Formats: sequence, C-alpha cells, structure tokens
Amino acid sequence: MFRLRFLTAGESHGRGLTGIIEGIPANLPLSPDYVTRQLARRQVGFGRGGRMRIEADRVEFIAGIRWGVTIGSPVALYIENRDWENWQGGMSPLLEDRGTVPPVTRPRPGHADLPGAKKYGQDDIRNILERSSARETAMRVAVGAVARRLLEEFGITVGSFVTSIGSVSMRVDPSTLTGEDLQRLFTDAESSDLRCPDRDAAGRMRDTVEQAMNGGYSLGGTFITYAAGVPVGIGSHIQWDRRLDSRLAHAFMGIQAIKGIEIGEGFELASRRGSEAMDEIFPAPGSSRTGSVLRKTNHAGGIEGGMTNGMPVLVRAAMKPIPTQRKPLMSVDILTGEPFEAAYERSDVCAVPAAAVIGEAAMSLVIADAFLEKFGGDSLEETRRNYENYLAGL
Ligand SMILES: Cc1cc2nc3c(=O)[nH]c(=O)nc-3n(C[C@H](O)[C@H](O)[C@H](O)COP(=O)(O)O)c2cc1C
Repeated sequence: MFRLRFLTAGESHGRGLTGIIEGIPANLPLSPDYVTRQLARRQVGFGRGGRMRIEADRVEFIAGIRWGVTIGSPVALYIENRDWENWQGGMSPLLEDRGTVPPVTRPRPGHADLPGAKKYGQDDIRNILERSSARETAMRVAVGAVARRLLEEFGITVGSFVTSIGSVSMRVDPSTLTGEDLQRLFTDAESSDLRCPDRDAAGRMRDTVEQAMNGGYSLGGTFITYAAGVPVGIGSHIQWDRRLDSRLAHAFMGIQAIKGIEIGEGFELASRRGSEAMDEIFPAPGSSRTGSVLRKTNHAGGIEGGMTNGMPVLVRAAMKPIPTQRKPLMSVDILTGEPFEAAYERSDVCAVPAAAVIGEAAMSLVIADAFLEKFGGDSLEETRRNYENYLAGL
C-alpha cells in the first residue's frame, strides 16, 4: 500500500483483535457504530459454525479519533473476543498457565497447521491455528470500514454478492452491470442469508449447504465485489506494483481460503476474440468522472492498464471449501508420526457470504489507498479540493 498502511494482531481465542490504520486524513466523521455495523455483516450467513453465535463483535476506538472525527493520527481499533472467557488459561500469556489445555498435534489438511508447526518449530499446532484462523478477518473488516467511510465522502460505494456455492451458481453477466444494477444486486444480497440476490439460486444454495451440514463436509464458492463511482485514473501503469489490478489481487489473495481472483471477466476473456473482449469508447461530453466518455460494456472490470477507467471496478473471487470437516480427513500426528483423523475444531461449513464482506474490506482498502495516493490531503477538506480540481480538469 502506498498511502495507507495497516496491521492486525490477535489470536482466535486470545483476548481480542487489535488493528492500526495510518494515513486516513483528519476530519473524517467516524463512529464505532458505523464500524460495528460492518462487523455484523461479516457474522451472518447460512453455514457458519457455533462461534458466530458466541461473538457479537463490537469495535472500540483506542486512538486517532476525537469527538467523532479522525485527527490525522493512526487510528487504533480493538475488538474483544467474547470466547476469551473460556480460554483465559489456555491462551494466557503467562508461563504459570502453561499446559492448561492439551496440545493439538493432528494437523488439518488444507490449513496452516502442518507447514506452520514445522516452520515455527511448534509441537502444539494451537500456536499456529490461533492466528491462521479467519477470526482475524473481523479486524480486516473493521479497518476496511474506516476506508469505506472515507470513500463514501466521495460518492464511491463498495458492495458484494455471492455468485456460487459448491456447484450451484446464479446467472450473471458482469460486463453488462451498471453502478445502479450493482447497487440493486447488493440491496437484494443484503436481505439473503447466502448473500445471493437471485432468490431461486439462493434457495438451491441453501439446499446444497444443508446437504453439506448433514453430510459432514464443507463447501466453497465464488462472489463478486465491486466499487462504483470511482473516477478515471486511480492506480497507475508505470510500475508493476502500482497497477490497481495487481494491488487488488494482493489484497484479495490475502484473505484466508481465497484461491483465485478475476478482474472483470477474467479467465473468460482468454477464449474470446479481441473484438468481443474490449469495451469500446464513445463520446459523452460533461461526464467528468469517466473522462467525458461512455462505455456500453465492462469486460475489463473497470481497469485498463492498471488504472480505473470510470466504470465499476469488478473483482470475482473463488473461495475453496473450509478445510475443517466434521467427518475428518486423514492426517499424521506431528509428535508420533502415526496416522490419525485430523483434529476437529468447531467450524463453519460454508463461509462464502462472510468472505464476500471481507472482500468488500479488501476492495475499500485498496481503492482508498490508490485514491489518497492520487489526491493526497492531510485533511478531508484538502483531499476534497484536490479531487474536485482533478474532476474539473477532465
Ligand atoms: C470468513 C471465513 C471463515 C472461515 N471459517 C473457517 C472455519 O470455520 N474452519 C476452518 O477450518 N477454516 C475456515 N476458514 C478458512 C481458513 O481460515 C483457511 O482455509 C486457512 O487459514 C488456510 O489458509 P488457505 O486456505 O488460504 O491456505 C475460513 C475462512 C474465511 C474467509
């Protein structure tokens, strides 16, 4: 990231999660309730495990905000783990509490368990799984909410919806979706516990998740995340790591269990004729956000040459099935070398709806970073002046 940076800390059953985000201009209105609302969106979804019923995440602001607005200093956030009550000995930082819970020695295939234990020299896999757990994404969503709040000031909206779970998918042609279409799909997704705006597909997705619950296996899926209202010229072609598509790939692939992403029509473009894969340009005087042009399609997902082109930015991400299975897979005990069934920790069966909300955080952080890189500003007013000046010149 070029203008924003953030870090998270915290174990799944530790005391809580901490996040620090730096680079947000001063004078941005921000309330704990705003962030907490985003946290609640991550927690819903058919297919989640018991943990989500224990945690009702709330954020506390520890630094960087005074009287409801940012003051330009790093914003520090904290989310308590309610489950900590049950783990005070087991996850205690104190030597005298050592041994309060038995070690985990049977790595789950598909998790960080085995490579993490080997790499960090651990006999107790808990020292790995506590941090590799997607519990960490609660803080990612909180930090992303700060970025989202900034984008809202400039009319940029970020949303998501689930497009498939297991082998059940909804029909959607992303290249035809306008900002208004995306907003409508988002609104419908918000009232679906599978985050799927297509009622019929959502019903079939629910059936397939139910079958997985009964069968003791897990499922993955795909989702689309978008940013609408982004002006032309965010990101850059001049260096590989400044390209917006590269930055989005980095952020999305940084989400646990995300194994593939596409920008716009992505993989499908590879089999098309060039004439069917580009977005033709037409004059549209006065539409400054797009550079006074119009596109009738959005195969590119709003990005050309590593820069936004004024069309909605579209990312589709693929999530693999959750590694932990109620019917465990075979594994090897790391202490004895004996074959065993992998350990079962209470687990989600399908978390694609939650991953889509985490994708929104990734999108918000990347777009906000590139937006601030372009427009700068240490106060919101300064950023706004620079932004409006740019638009006026387009
Ligand atoms: C929202 C969300 C919830 C998840 N819930 C679980 C879970 O309950 N059990 C589990 O084994 N993995 C879960 N995962 C997946 C693991 O965190 C992930 O597969 C693991 O950290 C290994 O990383 P990798 O899949 O990227 O290689 C979840 C992922 C996300 C994004």
